Amino acid sequence: MLVSGNGSNLQAVLDAIAEGRLNATVAVVVSNRASAFALQRASSSGVPTVVQTRGDDGRRAYDAQLAATVSSFDVDLVVLAGWDRLLTSEFVGVHRVINLHPAKPGCYPGLGAIERCFEAWKKGDETAGGVMVHHVPDEGMDDGPTIAWEEVPFEPDDTLNTFEERVHATEHRLIVKAVAEVLSLPDVRHLR
Ligand code: GAR
Repeated sequence: MLVSGNGSNLQAVLDAIAEGRLNATVAVVVSNRASAFALQRASSSGVPTVVQTRGDDGRRAYDAQLAATVSSFDVDLVVLAGWDRLLTSEFVGVHRVINLHPAKPGCYPGLGAIERCFEAWKKGDETAGGVMVHHVPDEGMDDGPTIAWEEVPFEPDDTLNTFEERVHATEHRLIVKAVAEVLSLPDVRHLR
């Protein structure tokens, strides 16, 4: 799994595996940030970790190195769970990748999706938030064929915090469901 931050969705996957709700192995957790709390979560579960920060090389050189790092583990599927870099074809052309995004399909690509959706709702321009997991076949940003998605309705007295909590709770369920679904396909066996 590729992570950049807190790793609550990584934790949801690790918990599901530990509790027998998901038949998978997390072979490695790679972060582009040494400070990512997700790395501690992985280590606590005995999962190998790699920190690969971006040096002076360009994006494509970084992604080629990242692809090689992932290939050195026994991996069939790469899950982006809070990964904050757009991947180029040097990576997505090599590995099978899925991405979690805290919005309805086609909405608020990029960082800060929850905040932007909440602000749109406050202005009367949005009716509901959502969460999606999608395939990453190319260099598109938070865009690709949908595997699973769920609406997260607003409640009249929502604050950003209460809305965000419901989005995250929905993510933690949906990521497990989507990973199980993709792993049930005949040519995929493990989590990268
Ligand atoms: C999640 O909300 C995930 O959907 C989002 O980053 C957060 C990571 O949380 N991803 C994106 O916005 C992708 N564009 P976590 O580190 O606690 O799993």
